[in-house]
Amino acid sequence: MVNVAHTLENLHHESRSFRPHAAFAAHANATSYEYKKAGVDRLQYWREAALRLAWRQPFTEILDWSDAPVARWFHDGTLNACDNAVDRHVREGRGDRVAFHFVGEPGDTETLTYSDIHERVQKAANGLVALGLGKGDRVAIYLPQIPEAVVAMLACARIGAIHSVVFGGFSAESLRQRIDDAEAKLVITADGGNRRGAHLALKPLVDEALASHGEGTAHPEPCASVEHVLVVRRTGQETAWTEGRDVWWHDAVDPQPAEHEPEWVEAEHPLFILYTSGTTGTPKGLFHTTGGYLTGAAHTHRIVFDLKPDDVYWCTADVGWITGHSYIVYGPMINGATQVLYEGTPNTPHEGRWWEIVEQFKVTILYTAPTAIRTFMKWGEAIPQQFDLSSLRLLGSVGEPINPEAWMWYRRVIGGDRCPIVDTWWQTETGAIMISPLPGVTATKPGSAMTAMPGVCVDVVDDAGRPVPNGEGGYLVITEPWPSMLRGIWGNRHRYVSTYWNHFDGMYFAGDGAKKDVDGDLWLLGRVDDVMNVSGHRLTTTEIEHSLVAHPWVAEAAVVGASDEVTGQAVVAFVIVRGDAHGVPEDGDEVAAALREHVRHQIGSLAKPRTILVVSEVPKTRSGKIMRRLLRDVAEDRPTGDVTTLADPSVMDAIRTGLEAGT
Ligand code: PRX
Repeated sequence: MVNVAHTLENLHHESRSFRPHAAFAAHANATSYEYKKAGVDRLQYWREAALRLAWRQPFTEILDWSDAPVARWFHDGTLNACDNAVDRHVREGRGDRVAFHFVGEPGDTETLTYSDIHERVQKAANGLVALGLGKGDRVAIYLPQIPEAVVAMLACARIGAIHSVVFGGFSAESLRQRIDDAEAKLVITADGGNRRGAHLALKPLVDEALASHGEGTAHPEPCASVEHVLVVRRTGQETAWTEGRDVWWHDAVDPQPAEHEPEWVEAEHPLFILYTSGTTGTPKGLFHTTGGYLTGAAHTHRIVFDLKPDDVYWCTADVGWITGHSYIVYGPMINGATQVLYEGTPNTPHEGRWWEIVEQFKVTILYTAPTAIRTFMKWGEAIPQQFDLSSLRLLGSVGEPINPEAWMWYRRVIGGDRCPIVDTWWQTETGAIMISPLPGVTATKPGSAMTAMPGVCVDVVDDAGRPVPNGEGGYLVITEPWPSMLRGIWGNRHRYVSTYWNHFDGMYFAGDGAKKDVDGDLWLLGRVDDVMNVSGHRLTTTEIEHSLVAHPWVAEAAVVGASDEVTGQAVVAFVIVRGDAHGVPEDGDEVAAALREHVRHQIGSLAKPRTILVVSEVPKTRSGKIMRRLLRDVAEDRPTGDVTTLADPSVMDAIRTGLEAGT
């Protein structure tokens, strides 16, 4: 297997390049004219992209940047996101087109046309209104990957409510934080979901989230904002019930009339909040608005994925992440895509499950993450080779840097050497793809996201904010506003400005390192801050450190993201156990197991450290800052780097000796 960090350091040795196939280029949605048009008049380019949406009231102004860095795009127009994603297709005669081939993990399937979704979403919208929801109210959605998740998001959008989807892998504590921050009035959840052949309960986590967490905790009182919990029956498992608060979806939604007039909202009306890890301990509630976000999502989806009416598109992300928002729900549905929606994991009941689904539904476009590709590499190419993957014509990658070996494997084994690969760089903040090759237009290099999208202005700058020349690296920035940019952090303008706009004057700071190669093509190098990227999911070192020190055994904790062959990075924690703690097991493995479980309970399974090492000290500078760089050296089993800035340089020897002795 490849070593990701090593590969990234050696990216400049990568010289392979693949020109677009003429046959693909002949029919591609994108042409080089896109770049020309955007280069001549960027705002006009975005205006044309926005005009592909259905507007209730047309806009007259494209961009208002007078309150920078808060942008207003198309602000005097009105529209509705659900009308664009659903009603419009029915209105224009595409109602019979399949919107989703849903595949449940246990093997149940359901085919939903745009007309079916239209009916369901109107019932759901009426159900929400009957529960007292209206324009501007916040709704937390905590559901498995089932059609109701899509319907719930669109029903919120339909009535002008703001959804905040919380990934089902987050803990009750994380859910509560997000509910409180957004002051959600409603939580939409399910009894449970199917995960690796078992029923994973969700509703008890909602009950736990909403209850008082006890004296002295962060949540001594029960949640004040939530009035109702709307529960989808998915697994049929026993579920505790709070009369008056809890309502079944099939009681509140199914009997409703299937007619509902969408709420026409201003282009700048918030569409959703999505929480993501920042550089401090508390997750940030990023929010996106309607007109600009939808323009970015739909436009990029059309030209990056080359979507055609007879395509079957499958984005394997969960709707709980931005990729699911932009490239399952809004972008593809606005474009009238036929999609696969899969509830489960790639190896249930067998390691060929994804390829079986590709074969069964004749998937033509597949969008997934490098961590999945590396996992399949580990399982071996004999598995995908058992299935007919000849329907595939385009492959996408997102979420983390893709190492050239994984890129080449994806191209050869999954793409049969015929499918273009689009490595798409973007973030929750950017709302839509910012850097990617355009299939049929841009030549590709394994491991490079290549070039900014038309209409998007990115650069790589040095510490002083000056653009670096070709052949050098620095910080990735976006130099002009774009339609799908975040509009802020919910309730905290100051944090928005200081996080993204204070590093370099007038430029958006992405938090990623990047290199321009000799041709000026872009290579993303991972985060430059304390954000880790584990299996394409963002986590902050401090968030996990806070969780660890909240445990009575732990005096101090330092967390680093160590490179990992499959997950890209993995969480490695160094903990110092309190001398006065009671009942601490002698065995370091037992301590580690208990603390891993503690983090899972506090944040969610995705944050569980891969390794916890009990140490006697952690390296710090004279000003008391933990030197994570040195801990990463230990975690990655490398010689320790420069220790001259340490307050006590002997600490590193003590850590190494202690670990070797098995303490
Ligand atoms: O570090 C970059 C990495 O993922 C971060 C954004 O994470 P999130 O907001 O969770 O969104 C993930 C899905 C869009 C970025 O700051 N990242 C995302 N895509 C790529 C990437 N790194 C390298 N190459 C990519 N294609």
